[in-house]
Amino acid sequence: MTQRTALVTGGTGGIGTAIVRYLARQGHRVATNYRDPAKAEAWRAAMKQEGYDVVLVQGDVSDPASCETMVREIEAQAGPVEILVNNAGITRDTTFHKMSYQQWMDVVNTNLNACFNVTRPVIDGMRGRKWGRIVQISSINGQKGQYGQANYAAAKAGMHGFSISLAQENAKFGITVNTVSPGYVATDMVMAVPEEVREKIVAQIPVGRLGKPEEIAHAVAFLTGEEAAWITGTNLAINGGHYMGW
Ligand SMILES: NC(=O)c1ccc[n+]([C@@H]2O[C@H](COP(=O)([O-])OP(=O)(O)OC[C@H]3O[C@@H](n4cnc5c(N)ncnc54)[C@H](OP(=O)(O)O)[C@@H]3O)[C@@H](O)[C@H]2O)c1
Repeated sequence: MTQRTALVTGGTGGIGTAIVRYLARQGHRVATNYRDPAKAEAWRAAMKQEGYDVVLVQGDVSDPASCETMVREIEAQAGPVEILVNNAGITRDTTFHKMSYQQWMDVVNTNLNACFNVTRPVIDGMRGRKWGRIVQISSINGQKGQYGQANYAAAKAGMHGFSISLAQENAKFGITVNTVSPGYVATDMVMAVPEEVREKIVAQIPVGRLGKPEEIAHAVAFLTGEEAAWITGTNLAINGGHYMGW
């Protein structure tokens, strides 16, 4: 297989770490960003123990200038970014009538505006080389909406609007752009939800359990592979049957 340079934003998180491992096992050079140097060092050491050598660069996906610097630094260390996974994300849940402007903006900046901030510095290179793979990590709640998540659902739905427009603009340049919409995956983000609420969520999942981060990583690896050249503009739901759109 061709070895590529992959940037996975939020690679130190639950789903991100699984994606980093999966792409690295496929032989790619993998880079990710960090914000807190101490946390990043601990993560890097743990990954090294497992045999993964990951390029780690400081970067805040909600800040366009920081993303420009981050991408240039990654390119200097690992070569041009050929695979981009916009995975970093946050939630700030509350019902809309109690939501502050800050809670709205933090979520939109980190989930949706980040797609602009990180993709803009890599797109010209991909177009010039006539090859690229871009995947947005959205959410089941961007597809179906969710009580207490007007900010998150709006941002996550917007990510797929971004994917399908970019997919059309860049298809002739050998670039595919897709969205993966995970359901509830057993990461810190979901395990922070009170147990009784989690039990109610699991009861709505036909497969009868939360997802595993590796199950999301598997889909990302599939969509970023050489053979996935004819798959573009899709929104792949991976949710144990929790929400079945068509
Ligand atoms: N877990 C689920 O069930 C689930 C379901 C559907 C969709 N998703 C989506 O999947 C993605 C990953 O979720 P996860 O569960 O793995 O979350 P997580 O464990 O909380 O990881 C989030 C990652 O994003 C990074 N991040 C957050 N804000 C950032 C910023 N401004 N700049 C740069 N990096 C930032 C975090 O870095 P720090 O350590 O610096 O905060 C962390 O590495 C998210 O987009 C999430 O919305 C998750």
